[in-house]
Amino acid sequence: MLSPTLFPLFCALFLCLPVAVIFTVQRELTGVITPPEFGFRSLSVFSLYSRNVPDASSSPVVRIRQPIPKEDEPLLRLASRVNPNLPPGSTRKLAFMYLTTSPLPFAPLWEKFFNGCSKNLYNVYVHADPTREYDPPFSGVFLNRVIHSSKPSMRHTPTLTAAARRLIAHALLDDPLNYMFAVISPSCVPIRSFDFTYKTLVSSRKSFIEILKDEPWQFDRWTATGSHAMLPEVKLEEFRIGSQFWVLKRRHARVVARDRRIWVKFNKTCVREDSCYPEESYFSTLLNMRDPRGCVPATLTHVDWTVNDGGHPRMYEPEEVVPELILRLRKTRPRYGEDGINGSEWSAVERMDSFLFARKFSPEALEPLLGMARTVLFNDSAGGV
Ligand SMILES: *[C@@H]1O[C@H](CO)[C@@H](O)[C@H](O)[C@H]1NC(C)=O
Ligand SMILES: *[C@@H]1O[C@H](CO)[C@@H](O)[C@H](O)[C@H]1NC(C)=O
Ligand SMILES: *[C@@H]1O[C@H](CO)[C@@H](O)[C@H](O)[C@H]1NC(C)=O
Repeated sequence: MLSPTLFPLFCALFLCLPVAVIFTVQRELTGVITPPEFGFRSLSVFSLYSRNVPDASSSPVVRIRQPIPKEDEPLLRLASRVNPNLPPGSTRKLAFMYLTTSPLPFAPLWEKFFNGCSKNLYNVYVHADPTREYDPPFSGVFLNRVIHSSKPSMRHTPTLTAAARRLIAHALLDDPLNYMFAVISPSCVPIRSFDFTYKTLVSSRKSFIEILKDEPWQFDRWTATGSHAMLPEVKLEEFRIGSQFWVLKRRHARVVARDRRIWVKFNKTCVREDSCYPEESYFSTLLNMRDPRGCVPATLTHVDWTVNDGGHPRMYEPEEVVPELILRLRKTRPRYGEDGINGSEWSAVERMDSFLFARKFSPEALEPLLGMARTVLFNDSAGGV
């Protein structure tokens, strides 16, 4: 119990709280200089405290914008609270999330891809390892798009997965209209027009993420951080493998931002480097556990694994990059995982989603790609497909 003398004091303090919050918020707003690339989120602070404000009904709700956090924990915590739905009637946007440790060799091609389409239909985000050099620097649509929470990222560690989580969290907070979130690598190129890509993705109610079960290396991947390291949260039979190049819808992006339980199991140092690819299992495992029916279990980023060069798929060299290659990649049917989704649309009907992106292309392939950008790459009727 509070003593009788302290009680009025306590009440007074409590009544002052809204005022204190208002002043703190204002100080933060004027005190922080935020470069334009970092974006903001909206928050109605005043309405939270309206019951304590004597004439709340007459005071307008003031929308303030808060900087996006730089450190992982507050970043993901805030992102986990965003509205998973878009405001009714709003135009859906695509979030293109580039994860890189080098300059983007296909930046001029992406520039052409975005050229001419409305800026209200997409956002670009770049996660760039800050310990690397970027020469030439990011420019054009990539100018000032590097997210300020970027941290060092390397293969065979959980840092690539952490980077993708940061991109998701940043994009969730940056724009409430981001509807689909696609991860793109530096060696990845678009093989359809923006228009086609946009229509395909915003009209989907499901995420596109490869979810494969019973791959020959499932056990090795599951034990990469230690023989029982995944238990009890992720049992061997719950573990999934898939391409790290997915497109997640907003609700699933928020599932990723909210997840701690599964992430701590993947955010561990591997004991075996040769099977350490957490970025190829974390997202597939998590979404398969949480909402398998909300996923089309396939990636829309084409890759050729018939060649495996030390964990790297086939890389297309400039002389191979001809219109027929692009048309062939477009016509290929994606590989669909099967489990947990019995009776849903792709097992009932033969589903045939079109690849939108492809990898890996050698940086020297830029020239032939640019040469056929208008006639083939961004020409959706090229080759009759
Ligand atoms: C992931 O692991 C790294 C290195 O051990 C650690 O610094 C970081 O805090 C971890 N992140 C989470 C969210 O657990
Ligand atoms: C899965 O589909 C098959 C074939 O349509 C059906 O026989 C089976 O009962 C289904 N299983 C479940 C769990 O729905
Ligand atoms: C796109 O492809 C069609 C079919 O091959 C062709 O007729 C047309 O000329 C192409 N468009 C451009 C701009 O090259």
